[in-house]
Amino acid sequence: MYDKTHSLMQRGRAFLGTEHAILCGAMSWVSERNLVAAISNAGGFGVIACGAMTPDLLDAEIAATKALTGKPFGVNLITMHPLLFDLIAVCANHKVSHVVLAGGIPPKGSVEAIKEAGAKVMVFAPTLALAKRLLRSGADALVIEGSEAGGHIGPVATSVLAQEFLPALAEDYVVFVAGGIGRGEMIASYLEMGASGVQLGTRFACASESIAHPNFKQAFFRANARDAEASVQVDPRLPVIPVRALKNKGTEEFTAKQREVAALLDAGKVDMEQAQLEIEHFWAGALRRAVIDGDVETGSVMAGQSVGMVSREEPAAEIIAQLMTESEAALSRG
Ligand SMILES: Cc1cc2nc3c(=O)[nH]c(=O)nc-3n(C[C@H](O)[C@H](O)[C@H](O)COP(=O)(O)O)c2cc1C
Repeated sequence: MYDKTHSLMQRGRAFLGTEHAILCGAMSWVSERNLVAAISNAGGFGVIACGAMTPDLLDAEIAATKALTGKPFGVNLITMHPLLFDLIAVCANHKVSHVVLAGGIPPKGSVEAIKEAGAKVMVFAPTLALAKRLLRSGADALVIEGSEAGGHIGPVATSVLAQEFLPALAEDYVVFVAGGIGRGEMIASYLEMGASGVQLGTRFACASESIAHPNFKQAFFRANARDAEASVQVDPRLPVIPVRALKNKGTEEFTAKQREVAALLDAGKVDMEQAQLEIEHFWAGALRRAVIDGDVETGSVMAGQSVGMVSREEPAAEIIAQLMTESEAALSRG
């Protein structure tokens, strides 16, 4: 049915153990048991977002996901989590087949620890040199993620990353492309460039099975591409982690907060460390507030630019079928 797409996805499908090489990227608070199982049951690859979970919470989440699907799924761990190695041990106990390391360069020994337990390791890399180093030193697959994506982002667009990374790596390694993918035609074109598969987040965040609050989903349905803005840094002394989210009262207040803290710094009323901490802590708990509590005014409504292509709630299986159909049609043209 999807012969051409499946054939180009073959390496990705074999690597993931799925029918389609389409991952639903981990989304903190959104990618829990229900969405992960729905994606995997639909022939895609769901990934649990561990985020700041404790090892006990992750343990329970993996067990609950397993109760909902017998299909492969992965776990996304943030490299700066203070209990990273305990979380790796939890994944090992559950014989999780794939672990995704996100949020920075994997610390020494982490890739080895995951592989020792027999799991495959997927990594992100901001530069080609680092990607090569990670792949040569044991990572099994790479995700390249462009700045169109929702959540934490790098500075370079997916289309540029794809041109830089795929010709250099796709022959020898499994590479998935993420960021700004809203339709199957885009999937087809990255597959034709050598990608083994793709990862989407924004398109799946409002699937019927997603537990995101109705307010969060409504905000997605109403938004256009241009509403999904990268966070702005006002003062070079106060670093801001770039995050793409829907603009709202919270994003305006964040800009005001940076100005206020910069002024206090100029006046010598706070030191640099205090100032930076105030900025860093501004968004603490804000994604949870938006996703779980439905506070889309001051919470962080992380969304990618493909949010303009999300207009209603649909079952994960329908989203995947639509993407596959569009990809197949594109590959069958001419
Ligand atoms: C609400 C939201 C939360 C996210 N949280 C995480 C996360 O916890 N860890 C992570 O590695 N990526 C996270 N991402 C990124 C996704 O996994 C995925 O790579 C990205 O959404 C793909 O780009 P797209 O949004 O353009 O489809 C998040 C994205 C969104 C929209």
